[in-house]
Amino acid sequence: MAKYKIAATGKLLPPAHQRLLEYCDVKIIDKSGKTPAYSQAECLKDAEGLISFANAKIDGELLALAPNLRVVSQVAVGYDNIDIDACTKRGIPVGNTPGVLVDTTADLAFALLLCAARRIHEGWNFVREGNWRPGTSFPFGIDLRGRTLGIVGLGQIGTAVSRRAKAFGMNIIYFDKFRRKDERELGVTYATFDELLGKADCIIVFTQLTAETRGLFSHKEFARMKPTAIFVNAARGPIVDTGALLEALTNNRIAYAALDVTDPEPLPTDHPLLKLPNILITPHIGSATTETRTSMAQLAVDNLLAGLAGKPLPACVNQSVNYK
Ligand code: DGY
Repeated sequence: MAKYKIAATGKLLPPAHQRLLEYCDVKIIDKSGKTPAYSQAECLKDAEGLISFANAKIDGELLALAPNLRVVSQVAVGYDNIDIDACTKRGIPVGNTPGVLVDTTADLAFALLLCAARRIHEGWNFVREGNWRPGTSFPFGIDLRGRTLGIVGLGQIGTAVSRRAKAFGMNIIYFDKFRRKDERELGVTYATFDELLGKADCIIVFTQLTAETRGLFSHKEFARMKPTAIFVNAARGPIVDTGALLEALTNNRIAYAALDVTDPEPLPTDHPLLKLPNILITPHIGSATTETRTSMAQLAVDNLLAGLAGKPLPACVNQSVNYK
């Protein structure tokens, strides 16, 4: 059987890549020049399927280069890099990877919260810089037990974070567009966005990036938070107005931020956020474990192969054009 022609904006982890090669001729759009480089146009002109990673912009202009495209398979749960309407207009289903990264991403978000509360990376810097000597002391952190955690966006990952927070003895309030029917079961209490900002000791953000949530946290929102608040973002950088966060941290309007995502991403190495003492930043590693990235890659291949065969994608963002 002839192989499908596909393009990819990056390389999948080995088991998934091998499976892809059984069925597809793969051209990787490589802008770094490290592997056999194909231009974007060259990769896309015959492509029937596209594997995309979250850092590649998939818009109408790119789709126009791929007249034979029948499926886009994103190797991430978020898909704000893809113009979904443009794909839907062309009848192209878009797959993503929900579910398989929930616990891994929740672990990272909660780890950021713990590091912030117990000043773990500052402690390490203190030791590494030779400041831990007889008689020196290190500033105290705070207990999570008994504190109120505000979760903005109580989807699958937000819920997994709430389970971890419960185990640590926290009270949990949440804000979401949709109120949950299982609040009692989860042990969470609904709050309006404004209430949450004022009541929470720690805030974790887990909303999708949409036109509505872009810049959701700006000057007014940081001003509403407690001056002792710890703010964690492991969702998408542009949900936060970076300038407003910088201002809030510089002037101690909030105590601390721990971020797995930033805007821009990556941050330039001379960015003023990097010079602050009350911030911890990791390089967008929410789902970055070998097991989870492997599962995401396998699900992306499932989605791609289903779309190429004209079958429903197991995880499809634009259901209206998912194959019947
Ligand atoms: C996701 O899957 O959306 C992760 O944030 C990786 O981009």
